[in-house]
Amino acid sequence: MDNNRIYYSLYESKIMTAEQAARLIEDKMIIGSSGFTKAGDSKAVLPAFAKRAANEQVGITLITGASLGHTTDTDLANNNALYKRMPFQLDSSLREKINDGSILFIDQHLSETAELLSNRHLPGIDIAIIEATYVDENGNIIPTTSVGNSATFAHLAKKIIIEINTAIPLDFKGIHDVIIPQDYPNRHVYNVTHTGSRIGQDFISIDPEKVIGVVFTEMTDSPARETESDETTTAIADHLLDFFNREIKAGRLTKSLLPLQAGIGKVANSVLSGFAKGDFEHLTMYSEVLQDSTFELIDSGKLDVASASSITVTKACYNTLLANFGRYKDKIVLRPQNISNSPEIIRRLGVIAINTAIEFDIYGNVNSTHITGTKMMNGIGGSGDFARNAYLSIFVAPSVSKGDAISHVVPMVSHTDHTEHDVDILVTEQGLADLRGLAPRERAKMIIDNCVHPAYKEQLQDYYNRALERGGHTPHIIEEALQWHSSLLQLGTMKQFVFQEQG
Ligand code: COA
Repeated sequence: MDNNRIYYSLYESKIMTAEQAARLIEDKMIIGSSGFTKAGDSKAVLPAFAKRAANEQVGITLITGASLGHTTDTDLANNNALYKRMPFQLDSSLREKINDGSILFIDQHLSETAELLSNRHLPGIDIAIIEATYVDENGNIIPTTSVGNSATFAHLAKKIIIEINTAIPLDFKGIHDVIIPQDYPNRHVYNVTHTGSRIGQDFISIDPEKVIGVVFTEMTDSPARETESDETTTAIADHLLDFFNREIKAGRLTKSLLPLQAGIGKVANSVLSGFAKGDFEHLTMYSEVLQDSTFELIDSGKLDVASASSITVTKACYNTLLANFGRYKDKIVLRPQNISNSPEIIRRLGVIAINTAIEFDIYGNVNSTHITGTKMMNGIGGSGDFARNAYLSIFVAPSVSKGDAISHVVPMVSHTDHTEHDVDILVTEQGLADLRGLAPRERAKMIIDNCVHPAYKEQLQDYYNRALERGGHTPHIIEEALQWHSSLLQLGTMKQFVFQEQG
């Protein structure tokens, strides 16, 4: 037994190999596993289960915090080890199976999974698999680089398997703030009054009787994708920084802004990095993922404190973080995702939410999840938790991609994740549309004027002019509204002249 990692002697007899632990999982079980945006995931037991499924007809419903790292989702998907998956994923093999219908996927607001489980709107968890830095003298778990849904899984599961990851430094103890909300109707207020508030314990408390296996690993998290800023992301960041400077001048914000949330994707990360350049001070983050930009901002002295549910950074940033953890420890808090993404807290703190859109339309409806209306990309993640409740709800996207075959500003979105009622600001590299206080017809003008790529401006203006002739509070030509998408599917471009010429 590793004396540094297990302080609860009764677990000694539970130590086993990942393969032995994977054998404890039965066909059709509901498994709740740690792991949030690739951080703190199961690195031994789920991969061993995927291997087992290669030679055996055995599958599970898998609920996690968010996406898993390494090739775990790939291997589970390819070996037919998943019946159902929720609440988020980021894996190309799994995506393919979701889109061909062979794996069922529930795309869920990340704040909601724990709620649905606690309220028994979802079936109970059979086994929770949770990565730990170490186990304390009462058998409780010190989590690693994420908290996600782990506390709820441990609380509700019939059985628990612990994966102790010796790659994580012991001084991770202290960065977590874990709380299990009371059942309704006796729910208390979450007393998070500022970004760094601590309202819980720095460990996940568990019933040691439930522990059926303890497995050791020594493996770092999968690194985040390296995303260099480019002309487009820099232009988007510059538009946003100008916007914030105007808000400061107008007296609506101070140089500390309000707590920032930045979603996944190359644009959001680049925007946050842009804050290092500006005249901002004492910034804070209330987000769900801490990315490289968080630590850059801490290093530059601009960011005082950051709260999230996970740390997902590139390899270089991960190594620096682990080697200099003391420098960051008192500036970060990792919370369960139902707290990091709590609508109530987001509204109260006045979070500024910056998320990436797949596309948005002339009225400000946003699609974050579906390619051409039917194919799941990743999932809504926390974007809905934040967008709906934010002080400012901002969505960013390049105006075009694949050359200029795809316009990310369209007449009507092919799937709606965030409605016009939840969206305040839209930004492309072309410019920024401030939609606050605007009615649909004013919004359309602002979006077409400021956000559309020149290759699509005339085409979109033409659509809108003809829609206006039909009238309506939100003018549309219903039979034509999705023609840009059908054109992309049929001809590989949203350019209508091609559609009309060939059609
Ligand atoms: N039509 C067709 N294809 C599109 C498209 C559109 N409107 N928008 C994007 N795509 C394609 C891209 O071309 C790219 O394809 P490729 O892989 O073949 O190159 C792919 O989708 C991914 O696009 P990319 O621009 O690289 O994505 P990104 O890394 O910037 O992420 C989102 C953008 C929207 C997919 C991502 O931010 C997301 O999943 N968001 C939802 C979850 C979320 O917001 N969470 C926030 C809280 S963390």
